[in-house]
Amino acid sequence: MEQTLSIIKPDAVERGLVEEIKNIFIKNNLKIVNEKKLHINKDEAAEFYKVHQSKPFYEQLCNYLSSGPIFVMVLEGENAILENRKIMGATNPKDAIEGTIRKLYGISIDKNSVHGSDSVENAKKEIKFFF
Ligand code: CMP
Repeated sequence: MEQTLSIIKPDAVERGLVEEIKNIFIKNNLKIVNEKKLHINKDEAAEFYKVHQSKPFYEQLCNYLSSGPIFVMVLEGENAILENRKIMGATNPKDAIEGTIRKLYGISIDKNSVHGSDSVENAKKEIKFFF
């Protein structure tokens, strides 16, 4: 069994999509083993997204993640990291395939509704960051 971190971002929390998104994970055999709603500040967002610090969109990304409440979860299942990434869809909702969370709910590349860990190493770090 593998664990991964999922974040429902401010745009989706604000639109009341938490339960709908949680149900998508559950239907796809990802068990929610830990969860909480919180509002992080910009420094915390900067620490969380440190891996992107050299990217031109870093500042905007940190401002956005700290702009409102988020809902974080630890998802557990077979190949949870990869499965979660399939369920989320492409980073840019415009490129996401039908039925994925980002296709269903994403607004833009920034407001793409969910984040998911991209590797075993990052999943461990990200889970530790929030729980
Ligand atoms: P996420 O999976 O949370 O990881 C980093 C985030 O940066 C990504 O989702 C996007 O929301 C955001 N982002 C903004 N601009 C870009 C970009 N040009 N390329 C990739 N990610 C971007």
